[in-house]
Amino acid sequence: MKSRDQIQSEICEAVLTLRINRPDKKNALNLAMYQALADGLKKGESDDTVRVILILGSEECFTSGNDLADFLNAPPTGPESPVMQFLIAISEARKPIVAAVNGMAVGVGVTMLLHCELVYAASGATFQMPFVNLGLCPEAGSTLLLPRIMGHQRAAGLLLMGETFNADKAFSLGIITEVCQDGDVEAFARSRALQLAAQPAAAVRLAKKLLKRDYADQLRETIAEEGRQFLARLKSPEAAEALQAFMQRRKPDFTRFD
Ligand code: COA
Repeated sequence: MKSRDQIQSEICEAVLTLRINRPDKKNALNLAMYQALADGLKKGESDDTVRVILILGSEECFTSGNDLADFLNAPPTGPESPVMQFLIAISEARKPIVAAVNGMAVGVGVTMLLHCELVYAASGATFQMPFVNLGLCPEAGSTLLLPRIMGHQRAAGLLLMGETFNADKAFSLGIITEVCQDGDVEAFARSRALQLAAQPAAAVRLAKKLLKRDYADQLRETIAEEGRQFLARLKSPEAAEALQAFMQRRKPDFTRFD
């Protein structure tokens, strides 16, 4: 599949849909996909015909997160990298963002949801943030946003253990807006996006801005600091072991590192 087809973009009835579409790799996000998502979000912001942005995955998978081969072969280089551009675009978007999660959401597949206003997940959806498991650190402002949403202990539980959890738990923790029946989530999310697009747009944007007002600056700083630490961690022996283990389809062994 050509990289331009891996993020599909369409504007219809004032809703810009960005669909992640690389099902053979569980929708893992490579550099070109991050860039296409960042460009799509920027276009949505500047296009006056767009009132709401809707992010979708495919039927069986939202996204398995960053492409792990890219972590080894083409790691992010700094603030200009496609992943950072995407994180800045999604965290600073003025227009409201709706997301629908089918199947698994891993890594940035979960942390991007923290920047959305309405998040709908199928009852069979699963969530996991295995940054620490990979010898890395949390990103996308999650070390600020998760404790705000659920408190230190529950956020630490998710981030330090990196275990998979289901849609009901994601709902009770406050990460998603609503759990939908499997098969209904995309249609439901789209109908909510259309309803939101029919709301007075300036009032919606103002409400979103006010909702984030007391932490917007801190969020920008946190994303930048997490990004710096993440780049350093990518060069760590722990991350090397975890990434090699994934490629070799074996369990990582961290016992030899302090
Ligand atoms: N990066 C690169 N490739 C990935 C990927 C990722 N994040 N997630 C899945 N893939 C690839 C697999 O290598 C495999 O490719 P292949 O068919 O060429 O061998 C294909 O997608 C299917 O994945 P597979 O592992 O066989 O599917 P599964 O249903 O058994 O497991 C996951 C799915 C997502 C649980 C598992 O692939 C996984 O743990 N991926 C890594 C997730 C991750 O750590 N993301 C980064 C977080 S920071």
